[in-house]
Amino acid sequence: MPITRDAHSITLTLGEFSSTRIALKGATVYSYVQSGTERLFTSSLSSIETSDPAAIRGGVPICWPIFGPPPEGNELYEKLKQHGFARTSVWEFVEEESVCEGEQGVKALFKLEPNSSISSLFALPFSLHYTVRLLPSSLSLSLVVSSPSTAIAPLPFQSLLHAYFRLPPSVLPAQTEVTPLENVSYLDKVQGNKEEFVERRKKVVVEGPKGEVDRVYLRAPDRLRIGYQGEKGSVEVRKKNLADVVLWNPGPEKAQTIKDMEPQGCERYICLEPGQTSSWVNLEPGQSWTGSMEVSWNDNDDNSQ
Ligand code: BG6
Repeated sequence: MPITRDAHSITLTLGEFSSTRIALKGATVYSYVQSGTERLFTSSLSSIETSDPAAIRGGVPICWPIFGPPPEGNELYEKLKQHGFARTSVWEFVEEESVCEGEQGVKALFKLEPNSSISSLFALPFSLHYTVRLLPSSLSLSLVVSSPSTAIAPLPFQSLLHAYFRLPPSVLPAQTEVTPLENVSYLDKVQGNKEEFVERRKKVVVEGPKGEVDRVYLRAPDRLRIGYQGEKGSVEVRKKNLADVVLWNPGPEKAQTIKDMEPQGCERYICLEPGQTSSWVNLEPGQSWTGSMEVSWNDNDDNSQ
């Protein structure tokens, strides 16, 4: 069966070697198997169950309507937790819109609208639709935000697809390179997030003080590549209408303070997170906005260049 569901998640399957699992909590894609290999990292200490209130530590949580902690001095967001409520809310699986498109792939649609607990935190009306498409050689994720025509004020938001990319077993974050980010401006959250720097490296190696990297690359290219030093294989990340990209790994010391991170978990992934963070989207009543990403892996790609 190409689409199956249980109490907590939906599974899409394409052929023998490709599948993805999406938790109803956060509509979080928490597993993607391509060519028989798991491509995403999800901590074994994290729960996908809807009764567990924490965001899933891994996969692709959706950050909405804010990225990071709530902006100071703004009443609209002051009750929100870091990265907003979309990743912790239980989404509706829209079964009638979820279909198998034959050899082309399988798609599932999820929906989130205000309920009483969301409305107690966030006053504006909205509607989120999230489409997960399992394609023959890629995974495509698309978030549509709509402001109802009956709304009386614009809907301001940031948005981010917080992808945890699993590394090949023999590769550490510090042997991982992201390109092309040369000459792209960035904010460095490890250094306090105040000043804009310009990236001068051709290949951005994922290493920082005590292994920690937490950077927001502003207006980054729409096609990014993750490669590995001394190892074949790459990931291509294509983003649309998401201007920025966050590169994050907490490093071993900080990872120990993350309670749902499995032991040595931070050595098994890097986060490369396409998002609209540097400028806010302001949706007028009746308008919609779409931000999306598509990812594919090439296990034979040569990284020696
Ligand atoms: C990244 C942020 O997007 O998410 C980091 O840039 C943050 O600053 C990380 O630590 C994880 O956030 P959380 O809330 O899932 O622990």
